[in-house]
Amino acid sequence: METACLHWQENEGPGGAIQTAAALLRDGGLVAFPTETVYGLGANALDAAACRRIFAAKGRPADNPLIVHIADMAQAETVCAAWPPEARLLAAKFWPGPLTLVLPRRRAVPPEVTGGLDTVGVRMPAHPLALALIRAAALPLAAPSANLSGKPSPTAAAHVWQDLRGRVPLILDGGPCPIGLESTVLDLTADGPVILRPGAVTAEDLAAALGRTVRTAGESAAGAGPKAPGMKYRHYAPEGRVVPLDPADPGRQIAERLRGVRPGERVALLASDETLAGLDAALRARIPVIYSLGSARLPAQGAARLFAGLRLADEQRAGLILVQAAEEIGLGAAFMNRLRKAALE
Ligand code: TXA
Ligand code: MG
Repeated sequence: METACLHWQENEGPGGAIQTAAALLRDGGLVAFPTETVYGLGANALDAAACRRIFAAKGRPADNPLIVHIADMAQAETVCAAWPPEARLLAAKFWPGPLTLVLPRRRAVPPEVTGGLDTVGVRMPAHPLALALIRAAALPLAAPSANLSGKPSPTAAAHVWQDLRGRVPLILDGGPCPIGLESTVLDLTADGPVILRPGAVTAEDLAAALGRTVRTAGESAAGAGPKAPGMKYRHYAPEGRVVPLDPADPGRQIAERLRGVRPGERVALLASDETLAGLDAALRARIPVIYSLGSARLPAQGAARLFAGLRLADEQRAGLILVQAAEEIGLGAAFMNRLRKAALE
């Protein structure tokens, strides 16, 4: 299959990339498109055959459900059967934005989308191209991250191209994704709200909005029940060993880790600008792949850059990938969740 990659500009008129993409989606085809979190691989969420194509293109296990993307509340009501008051409150406060709500599904949503569950994950993305595409297609779009299953989520069109070239007909290039980590997934069908996957809408944000504590489901594969199907799968684990470095004293830990490096083994270091600036020149000379996670004072920069850095380390065949950890608060909780998954052996 030939893959086209169309560039998109916000002032583009009808007949451009969005109309081409919308027509493909209405025909049951797949389109990769940017959102504020990561690139998604979209299909008509109400068309079971179209959604099966997503699983085939990604190599994704069939029981891992897809998130349905909508552009307005009327569309959201066509996929969710119930809107408890807390769901309405959170949608009003955080949509469009990086929050997926798990709610009871309507029958119109095929089991391919929900992994056979009675619930559906739904979100309104905060990206002008994603919203324009959903509106032009006039369809809710089922869209997982547009990576091959087992790779880090794509935060730029080039990442989608690396993974899915020849497997999907169209990639819309809307530039890099501003957030860079996948949305927060919040289950509202359990006894009290439960975060199934931390993201840029943090536990603190949700607790403040709801006026009660919001717990986060355990990360261990063993603990993943049917409520959190995606969590039982092995996530991105590169060829190299990923080792998180304590943010308190990364310089000392880098020196220690370099002592254990095997002859000929390439090392990658993903760290803050401050850490990189303070790195001893002799140490630095032993690390062929150095990648900035931005300023340590701006956790959003590290979040936006993590996946691209892991991809780079893999391309550079690093046998050891050292990544500066973040403090486990706010967005740092999402960053650490993804980093720990990448570090799982
Ligand atoms: O930011 C995002 O959420 C991106 C962009 C494209 O919107 N999408 C994304 O999709 O990350 P995906 O498929 O890579 O991750 C979806 C996660 C999985 O962990 C899945 O198990 C969970 O959401 N999920 C989806 N529907 C669910 C449901 N009904 N119940 C429980 N978990 C669900
Ligand atoms: Mg994914």
